[in-house]
Amino acid sequence: VVDIRKLYGQTGLFTFDPGFTSTASCESALTYIDGDEGVLLHRGYPIGQLAEHSSFMEVCYLLLNGELPGADELTKFSTTISRHTMLHEQLNSFYSGFRRDAHPMAIMCGVVGALSAFYHDSTDISDPNHRKISSHRLIAKMPTIAAAAYKYSVGQPFMYPDNTLSYTGNFLRMTFGVPAEEYEVIPAVEKAMDRIFILHADHEQNASTSTVRLAGSSGANPFACIAAGIACLWGPAHGGANEAALNMLKEIGTPDKIPHYIERAKDKNDPFRLMGFGHRVYKNYDPRATVMQKTVREVFDALKVTDPLFETALRLEEIALSDPYFVEKKLFPNVDFYSGIILSAIGFPTTMFTVLFALARTVGWVAQWNEMISDPGQKIGRPRQLYTGPTQRDYVPIEQR
Ligand code: ACO
Repeated sequence: VVDIRKLYGQTGLFTFDPGFTSTASCESALTYIDGDEGVLLHRGYPIGQLAEHSSFMEVCYLLLNGELPGADELTKFSTTISRHTMLHEQLNSFYSGFRRDAHPMAIMCGVVGALSAFYHDSTDISDPNHRKISSHRLIAKMPTIAAAAYKYSVGQPFMYPDNTLSYTGNFLRMTFGVPAEEYEVIPAVEKAMDRIFILHADHEQNASTSTVRLAGSSGANPFACIAAGIACLWGPAHGGANEAALNMLKEIGTPDKIPHYIERAKDKNDPFRLMGFGHRVYKNYDPRATVMQKTVREVFDALKVTDPLFETALRLEEIALSDPYFVEKKLFPNVDFYSGIILSAIGFPTTMFTVLFALARTVGWVAQWNEMISDPGQKIGRPRQLYTGPTQRDYVPIEQR
């Protein structure tokens, strides 16, 4: 008779939940999702209302502090963030160590991970003031780090932050401006970009946020934790899906090719999936995708451009949502399905898409990290396993094997 608990090296109550599909890893007051109804709330406010009426700075304040800011509080918070936008000059030299064709997410992992080497005056995680400063530093410096990753890839000089501009306007200027010329921020583009940041700000215990919490649970410094989150976000099943979705739309090309790709997505022997479709939690339309689809049109109007891939995407959505496979499995467009079309129209190369996601998600990561560290009952994250290897056996000398 085998004691199964001993076999698995485990006694007591034990759950086995691969992918954590039905395990809550923590309590959190930040973000609520009702996946069946397609509802997403930050601190109780619906994402649609925040995207329509709010600003990214306001949402950052909300996520970090629990309430929407008053006018003075918002000004003070935005000013504080703008005072941290500059990078230590020596950090800039990190970039030249990378190949020009390095993926900007690889650069982000490296540069953000290195921040603790420059800002160790804010890494005492037991000190709430250190936690606050490091959170502000991360939110403020991500646009500068991201823009520099882009500038490096195109061989242009880095742009220093212009703190007279908004958070998002400054980011656009650092990315697309050049030192010798005036850069005019187009208000509609600034608004669209800001909205994209809002849509990506937080999403409860997704893979990268769980990674940040797990890394932080050991007491690692916040910069290291966010670098871990960036690494996790990079995967095509998570943040990398926006890049993969646009590449897929390009591969499909014209609407007449859609049925072929729908059939491929349904074929279990074919690894192809519709990128930007499906979600672990949403079994309904992702509310962020609704806003994103609307924003595509606004950006096209503002820039007086169009993109035939938008027609392909709309048609793909229409065909998929009338196909029993997608209906039965409740596979709907997610936030990544339309975002690439907007970012591409604004001028970002596909490799920057996940970087923008990381930039926006930083506030969610630091808010979740702060919530975890402030919890007096916080423990190191340490999942168990079901051991499936050999039972105990004796070492065999090499000449007898
Ligand atoms: N295309 C085709 N079939 C799909 C797709 C898709 N995009 N997504 C899920 N399915 C099918 C699966 O094959 C599976 O079928 P089965 O039950 O017959 O085996 C079923 O739907 C359930 O899929 P799972 O992978 O088990 O669901 P899970 O919750 O683990 O995965 C995920 C969710 C990773 C998002 C998945 O839907 C996917 O890979 N989508 C494409 C990538 C993507 O868009 N990722 C972005 C997610 S949002 C974000 O991170 C911001």
